[in-house]
Formats: sequence, C-alpha cells, structure tokens
Amino acid sequence: MEENFWNIGENSGNDIRNPKLTQVPQRLMFDLYGGCNLRCWHCPRAAAHLGGQDSCRELVDYVLYEVIPHVRYLRIGGNEFGENLLSKHFNYFLSNLDKTHLKEVRMVTNLTHLDEDKAKLIAEKLDIIDVSLEGTGESYTKIRGYAWEKFLKNFELLVKAKRSNSKSNLKIYLNTCAFLGNLEILLGLFDLKGLDISQINFLELHPRDNTVIHECLWKDPSKTNVYIKKFEQRSRETGIAVWMEFKDKYSIGNRIKRALKLQPLRVCHYPWDCISITSEGNVSVCCMLFRIDKVKQYDRQILDILNSAPFQEFRAKVNSPTPNTECLTCQFKNPVSHEQVFLELLMKRLDQQKER
Ligand SMILES: C[S@@+](CC[C@H](N)C(=O)[O-])C[C@H]1O[C@@H](n2cnc3c(N)ncnc32)[C@H](O)[C@@H]1O
Ligand code: SF4
Ligand code: SF4
Repeated sequence: MEENFWNIGENSGNDIRNPKLTQVPQRLMFDLYGGCNLRCWHCPRAAAHLGGQDSCRELVDYVLYEVIPHVRYLRIGGNEFGENLLSKHFNYFLSNLDKTHLKEVRMVTNLTHLDEDKAKLIAEKLDIIDVSLEGTGESYTKIRGYAWEKFLKNFELLVKAKRSNSKSNLKIYLNTCAFLGNLEILLGLFDLKGLDISQINFLELHPRDNTVIHECLWKDPSKTNVYIKKFEQRSRETGIAVWMEFKDKYSIGNRIKRALKLQPLRVCHYPWDCISITSEGNVSVCCMLFRIDKVKQYDRQILDILNSAPFQEFRAKVNSPTPNTECLTCQFKNPVSHEQVFLELLMKRLDQQKER
C-alpha cells in the first residue's frame, strides 16, 4: 500500500518502547481555525454549541518555521471541529509553506469559504483536499444548512484552479459521514465524477448525542453491508476509489468477535508518530487531544514540548499492560469499544474544549 498520512505507523523513526522521542514525529495535524460557519445535522460541534477562534500569527509562524521543517506529512485540520478556510492566515500560511521536503499536504474542508485566490493556492500547495458532504442537491442543503448551488460553484472554482495549473498534484477526495438515513442518497456522490474526484472516504456516524443513535450503522448491519456492496459496485463502474471506515466492521465474523469481546487491544503509535496542534496553540500527543501542553513561549523547541514529563508518562502507559484510562476505551486501541463509549469520550473532550 502506498504510504500516506494515515498509515505511516511504525515507520515514524521513534521506538514505541521508549517514552522519550528521539526525533520529531513525522506527521503533523494543525488547525488554523477552531470555529465553523455551519451547523451540520450530524456534527458534535453544533450539538455542543462550541465557539472557536482563529490562530494567532505567532503560532502560525512557529508552525511554519519551527515545526513543519521537521515533519514529512501535514494535515491542515482534523484536531478540532473547525473550518480552516475561515482563518485570516489561510493565504499567508499556504503562500509561505515550504513543501519541498513534504511527502503529503492535505486539508479537510466544507469548501464554503473558497475564493479564486484560495483555490489557486490549494491547487499549488496541496496534494489532497478532502471535501465534506453527506448528499447532493436538497439532501446536502438539509444536512449541512448551506445552499447546494453555492457549494457546487465553489467546487467548480476548485476544479478550474486545478486544471489551469499544469504543475498541480492536487487530488480531490470527498469525505462523507454515512448514517442509515443517507445511504441511498450517498450513491449520488458517484455521479459527481465530472468534478475530478479521485476517491470517496466514507466515515460512519459517531453519534453526536443520544437522540441520533437510531441512525448509526451498527443499528442495521444488514442494510449497511448491502450498501457497502453497492458503493463498491459504483466504484468499479466510475473508477472513483472508495475507502470505508466500516468496511469489515459489521461482517458476521466481526460482529461475533465484538459481541464476545474477542479482539485484542491494538498497539497505538499515535503519540510517537504524530503531533496535534490546535488553533489555540495546544499541543497534544494524542489525536483525541487528551493531555495537552500549550505553546506559550515560541522559543521552546517542539521536541522539548513533546518530551515534557507528562507526555512521557502518558506514552509509557499507552501500550503497557495498564493503559491510560482514555486509551482503554479509545477505538484506536480497543476495536470492540462500543460507539456509546466513544460518544462519552467525545463529549468529555468537547467539554474540555469548551472550558479552555
Ligand atoms: C468535523 S469536520 C471538520 C472540517 C470541516 N468543517 C468539514 O466539514 O469538512 C471533518 C469531517 O468530520 C465529519 N463528521 C462530523 N461529524 C461527524 C460525526 N458525528 N460522525 C462522523 N463524522 C463526522 C464531517 O462530515 C467532516 O467530513
Ligand atoms: S461537519 Fe464541518 S462544516 Fe459541518 S458543522 Fe461540523 S465542523 Fe462545521
Ligand atoms: S487515547 Fe487513543 S489515540 Fe490517544 S494515545 Fe490512547 S489509544 Fe492512542
């Protein structure tokens, strides 16, 4: 499999038996902006009434000049439930991004705040853009609360910028959240082939609160498995690749294993191979943002921040016989962890985010 942001795993250069890092991890997730302009039906951000803020220029410069030179993979967004195109630093950040040593630069976005300048920069500097949508036409508007026609116009702007830059490596992926009520609608995403789409990533609904649990895929594994086959069929017909978070999860064998809790804990590499930096300058060694340290003094080296005593203590326990409590229920480690537990973890994290 071709190496990418999500699968570099053991190749990070750090030894997971050593809680102290010997080199800066190779992956960076950085949020330029912590807020969002939409209130999508499925998103925990809307349910938790989260605010959110722009990053400050000092932080952006710290990331550009003190962190990025050490990493090989950059993902803009992904730590917070935010929308990075809203940042006043977006153009500055991409214009000044030296990507000569980077293997991959990608960003997840709702694409609603695109303009011509941003589209040109994206075509020039990004390798992958993950554009989020959970349906087309009226369904899109209903779920995302944003006009489909305006979204489509922005999409066309992006495709135009990509086509008019002969050096652009940009691949356009769709990012979608699947739930029982939109599975049929999602077949329509394959009809957008004319928009240069290379891949569709299907995430499954992680319930934002108890009122939407009936929409979760695990509530109807048979229906889910039928649609997995339909998506694969449409993928073969259109040549658009698919990745499904829930591909094998609801097979009969795995359902039995989950019910009997027969799957062993996984090894989590995250604290050794990835850095999360939020728009507020919070650094974490865990993608769930458990345990944070704030970049306060911008003369501190990133490796020193990541090797602070609390982070080393956290690493020492992640894959030990007595893992951190957060790790025990985290889906990255515990494949049989129930979505309800995941929801509780998510709520805890959002509460922490609100308090900060
Ligand atoms: C949280 S958003 C942040 C980036 C940007 N605002 C966007 O919508 O692309 C990142 C992705 O998470 C997905 N997402 C949001 N809520 C979700 C949920 N409850 N379960 C699964 N995926 C979800 C969104 O659909 C989107 O594709
Ligand atoms: S899914 Fe993205 S665009 Fe929608 S509310 Fe959440 S963060 Fe905002
Ligand atoms: S909480 Fe999850 S992602 Fe974070 S270190 Fe533990 S197992 Fe890894």
